[in-house]
Amino acid sequence: MKNSQPGILAPLPSHARYLTFALKQGARPHAELKALAGAADGKACVVGIGALLAFALQKEIEGLKPFPHYRGEGVEVPSTPAALWCWLRGEDRGEIFLRARALEKMLASAFEVTSAVDAFRHGKGLDLTGYEDGTENPKGRKAVEAAIVRDRRPGQGGASFVAVQQWVHDLDRFAAMPQKEQDNSIGRRRKDNKELGGAPASAHVKRTAQESFTPEAFVWRRSMPWADTTQAGLMFVAFGKSLDAFDAQLKRMAGAEDGVVDALFTFTRPVTGAYYWCPPVKGKKLDLRAIGL
Ligand code: HEM
Repeated sequence: MKNSQPGILAPLPSHARYLTFALKQGARPHAELKALAGAADGKACVVGIGALLAFALQKEIEGLKPFPHYRGEGVEVPSTPAALWCWLRGEDRGEIFLRARALEKMLASAFEVTSAVDAFRHGKGLDLTGYEDGTENPKGRKAVEAAIVRDRRPGQGGASFVAVQQWVHDLDRFAAMPQKEQDNSIGRRRKDNKELGGAPASAHVKRTAQESFTPEAFVWRRSMPWADTTQAGLMFVAFGKSLDAFDAQLKRMAGAEDGVVDALFTFTRPVTGAYYWCPPVKGKKLDLRAIGL
């Protein structure tokens, strides 16, 4: 799609930094957002706007809903809404860090950073558990169909919605699980990525099998591993033409559909969860007409 933010459909970069911002009390962020629209090209920096920000601008973004919260036996899925999200992408970690700093300074009069997480590509797109992530992503035209909004209204077509969750892995616990249990928790064999027909219903790929939903629930996953001095996990990022497919998958993973909880929860847990609307681009700038800018 020619006017979607190019970073959404592009291959994963080697490095990334995710910035999350809150709106400062009483701030009128119009000037800062206009500056952001010029500075973020949608490729080296993908931008998402939260419902909290749209609300502050007295605009409603059709399809942008609150992130759900689930709590059950062994499951806690938090909802941590934010105003603004930036996914800085590149090949050089220093360059990304300096770009992030410049962005923070540019936005500082209206926004404060509430979290900054560095992420990286591991091997050919592996999670830190060693399993390949992204195999069943839709390809080519189907990826565009899943991820990008088709709409003729100015400022609407070419947009996308994104679900972002930071997951923290318990890698010791995972390492202590027998190989068979590890494979069964994902539903694929780590050594050759083969799907396991006989995996239990709790296996992650059985819970989320995109064709098994009505309607089918295809998403465009662009997750990356992250690690700091004490913790590590996956920054789960899924783009969609709407949030419905992700919503349906998460509901089933949490056991809220049929009582079967995704086996991922035995060794990892989400600590954040938010939805954003990713505006289209127009001439290498973010197109913010849908929110009146
Ligand atoms: C720590 C968190 C997660 C990890 C480590 C993880 C890992 C994986 C792996 C290894 C696969 C198999 C290969 C592939 O097709 O990509 C997979 C598939 C998939 N995951 Fe996740 N995932 C996580 C969270 C989620 C969440 C939160 C969702 C959505 C709510 C999700 C949705 C999917 C989907 C749709 C598939 C493909 C299913 C299919 O159609 O075969 N994942 N994931």
